[in-house]
Amino acid sequence: MNSNARETVRGKVKTMKVKTIRWAFAGVGGRGRGLMRTTLGMGGVEARAVYDPNPDNLLRALDVAEEALGKRPEGYSAGPDAYERLLARDDVDAVLIASPVPLHAPMATAALRAGKHVLSEVGAAVTIEQCWDLVHAAEESQRIYMLAENACYIRNNLVILEMVRKGVFGDLTYAEGGYVHDLRSGLFRADGSLTWRGELAQNAGNWYPTHPMGPVSQWLGVNRGDRLVSLVSLSSREAGASHLARQKLGVEKAAGLGFANDSNNTLIRTAKGALIDLRFDVSSARPCLSTMHLTLQGTTASYDSRDANSKIWIEGRTEGHTWEPLSEYAEEFEPALWRKWGEEAKKTGHGGADFFSISEFLDVVRTGRPSPIDAVDAATWSCITPLSAASAAAGGQPREIPDFTQGSWNKRRD
Ligand SMILES: NC(=O)c1ccc[n+]([C@@H]2O[C@H](COP(=O)([O-])OP(=O)(O)OC[C@H]3O[C@@H](n4cnc5c(N)ncnc54)[C@H](O)[C@@H]3O)[C@@H](O)[C@H]2O)c1
Repeated sequence: MNSNARETVRGKVKTMKVKTIRWAFAGVGGRGRGLMRTTLGMGGVEARAVYDPNPDNLLRALDVAEEALGKRPEGYSAGPDAYERLLARDDVDAVLIASPVPLHAPMATAALRAGKHVLSEVGAAVTIEQCWDLVHAAEESQRIYMLAENACYIRNNLVILEMVRKGVFGDLTYAEGGYVHDLRSGLFRADGSLTWRGELAQNAGNWYPTHPMGPVSQWLGVNRGDRLVSLVSLSSREAGASHLARQKLGVEKAAGLGFANDSNNTLIRTAKGALIDLRFDVSSARPCLSTMHLTLQGTTASYDSRDANSKIWIEGRTEGHTWEPLSEYAEEFEPALWRKWGEEAKKTGHGGADFFSISEFLDVVRTGRPSPIDAVDAATWSCITPLSAASAAAGGQPREIPDFTQGSWNKRRD
């Protein structure tokens, strides 16, 4: 639908006319409502429908939409076919999915097959079958699918991508990615029942891999000149979440929660021989509420953000055997997106990264350019969940990683 809506970003009006995107929002808990607020703060959008089986969350989200745009979208909650009824509407262009992770792929696949574009929260899928379903649905529907992997838009991660593209790192051999985040209180409720995160934590392995896998894969050119080939994975025993559960719920209730492991480490090899070391732990006690760390090693530069101070060494530029703050290079290698929208982006969640997940999706839908994080990328990064669990359960036996590009990994470009 073409409209006269002008592109506005939080009050700033540009002269360019843009196509209005009519949204539906599916899954509007804390995260879904936050993304909804950011989306509706951008120009050229309408909210047509909202779906959440939890009526309280649905009402909260309808309020958010009304507050943002002065109009209440239609709410869907009751009945087993509520989501299908929403998808049957012919006045919805795009669906933003922020439901529990195991539902993402079935909901995205259904939306694509109903002719909607999809912006999905992370991870994209939890089984290999779901990964393939998603890839095939995107291919066959010719609709746009984008994974809202906001870690790919964190400024430092884009600065490193810019450096990689300009050859600063030389040949890349190794990257490390960690999601180490004390999330124990999000695994179970006060009555002793498990949340969806707690249910995922009953499976061994890395059940939230895409935050580090996204930036690392973009740096290494995964699915664009290289591809993930195989992995081995091992997990520690479980202790941390049960420790907290015993304190909160008592020994008896805590005993039945069935968490699988605390730490999981997965090593991934690429076709070109690079190694990715992925660390995952959301079940151990630690003082820092949220940590994602990344490293990158090339023949001419080394990057390390493990201690939360992003630092770099560059052959021929850094003096001696010392590290320099990455910020020294942030201006020289400033990503185009940040140069253009940085000030606006900083007003939104995750240091501005949420802004770009949404603005990039809107741009892709409007211009028809390829999705920057398409179903193939989403499947590639998300398949680490079932494969790490399978490898860890088999004592670290290697598992092959499917080629979701179906042979085109050396031809695909941004
Ligand atoms: N990218 C990030 O930085 C980031 C941060 C937080 C959460 N997330 C992702 O966002 C998603 C939601 O996380 P959250 O913290 O808001 O979880 P939450 O549990 O607070 O919210 C989930 C919502 O989904 C709803 N839901 C349950 N079943 C559903 C169904 N069948 N269809 C539609 N909705 C359903 C629930 O009622 C709830 O409102 C998850 O996928 C999570 O991984 C991403």
